[in-house]
Amino acid sequence: MDDKDLELFFANGILVDASVKNVEIKDIDGLLKMLKERNITFLGRQELYDLNRAEDESLSDTMVEVIKNYDGATSPSKPAEWVAYFNDRFERLRTMLVEKDRANIVSLSTAKGMPPGSEVKTIAMISKISVSPVKKYMVLDIEDSVSSGRALSSVINQDLLPDQVVIIKGRKSGDAIFINDIILPDITIKDTMPSDIPDSYALFLSDVHIGSKLFAKEPMELFIRWINGDVEEYAEIAKKVRFLVINGDLVDGVGVYPGQEKELTIKDLGAQYEALYKILDRIPKNIKLIIAQGNHDATHIAEPQPRLDPAFASKMYELQNATFLSNPYQVNLSIGAIKRSLLGYHGFSLTYYANSIAKYNKMEPDDIAAIMKIQLKSRHLAPTHGSTQIMPLPRDYLVIDETPDIYATGHIHKALASKYKETVLINSSCWQYQTSYQKKYGIEPEIAKVPIVNLRDKSFQILDFLGEKVQIYKKGIKG
Ligand SMILES: [Fe+2]
Ligand SMILES: [Fe+2]
Repeated sequence: MDDKDLELFFANGILVDASVKNVEIKDIDGLLKMLKERNITFLGRQELYDLNRAEDESLSDTMVEVIKNYDGATSPSKPAEWVAYFNDRFERLRTMLVEKDRANIVSLSTAKGMPPGSEVKTIAMISKISVSPVKKYMVLDIEDSVSSGRALSSVINQDLLPDQVVIIKGRKSGDAIFINDIILPDITIKDTMPSDIPDSYALFLSDVHIGSKLFAKEPMELFIRWINGDVEEYAEIAKKVRFLVINGDLVDGVGVYPGQEKELTIKDLGAQYEALYKILDRIPKNIKLIIAQGNHDATHIAEPQPRLDPAFASKMYELQNATFLSNPYQVNLSIGAIKRSLLGYHGFSLTYYANSIAKYNKMEPDDIAAIMKIQLKSRHLAPTHGSTQIMPLPRDYLVIDETPDIYATGHIHKALASKYKETVLINSSCWQYQTSYQKKYGIEPEIAKVPIVNLRDKSFQILDFLGEKVQIYKKGIKG
């Protein structure tokens, strides 16, 4: 803009920041009109970028449609509620299995009454898995809502887990069923949507841990500058971002573990959320924010966790472009007629499976993808009772009712972008340098890696904000 333009802004009561004085403005009358309509009296780089995005018609049809969200009603955990909770889980998973393979299914009590040698097919929850010491058979204790029994196999299937609901096909052998095949509910293949839309991106963050002394401030600053079009590398992607997802551990919290106060720079929970607000308020307003909870956030730890509590985080609710959701949740990210469904889960049960299944201990990208696959195959985010803390509600919110286009997690502070069938798997690293706890256990967090998914064709990539420049991060990409 030249001196004449500057005078025009000044005459209209608009201050112009030095950072935009060199920017060429084609339609100054149109811009002045828009600034007046929006009561904007200061024109800086962020305002100009926001206005340009607001003008871009192709970005105006972005919506978040909520499919699954726990609204926060609590329930005391009495035994009767555990029964209702497990019955709900069993019935919903049983319905999925019946839809998958309905021919000749009998109840477990009918199967038990059938003579030895009969072919049987029944649906049951695995209550216990053991290996018989004599002949090395895998022994499954199984049950449904009215009966219990036993199934045996000479093959030890390491992907089976207690409390999974499965179809068991086999032959009666004494009282037990000798297994021929086990079918898990599994996800379906999604219909491919028409992809004749322009590139548009969803970005995935989690584990920001604001308030921690180890918060990765500089990488976050680079990320905020990048998303505001102020960084050269991959700027063409930044322009086309429509959704920014943050899957929990928004703040480091207070009193989450003994001695935490020594590791905090912000010791007040409300102040931690205010600090996060200040960062998120700098994100262009026509990017939709999807914000959910993690185990460090201001809520109970048992899942489902309700959305962020306005009593602790009132400032966050001033973000007009944000949708606040429970953990877990499912939404449609919609762009006009195109919808991509997103299942979001902070990921508490991932550590349980990494610790309890030896081959996944290292938490390499392949291991994380394998655990996420088990969850999708089980159609449950924490199939084994005890893999996370559960609030026993009459409805099990951890059942995966609908096959998602994207399943995104966090919690383990590692980066992953992969695919299982047609579903993209994401884990979104963290923004906290290695803690003393992680050092003690040899855990190397991956910091400031941001998985991105192109909603047009579900292709994915990871951008790295840890260094001076934005770079592609290949390590977390699988498949
Ligand atoms: Fe975390
Ligand atoms: Fe976490």
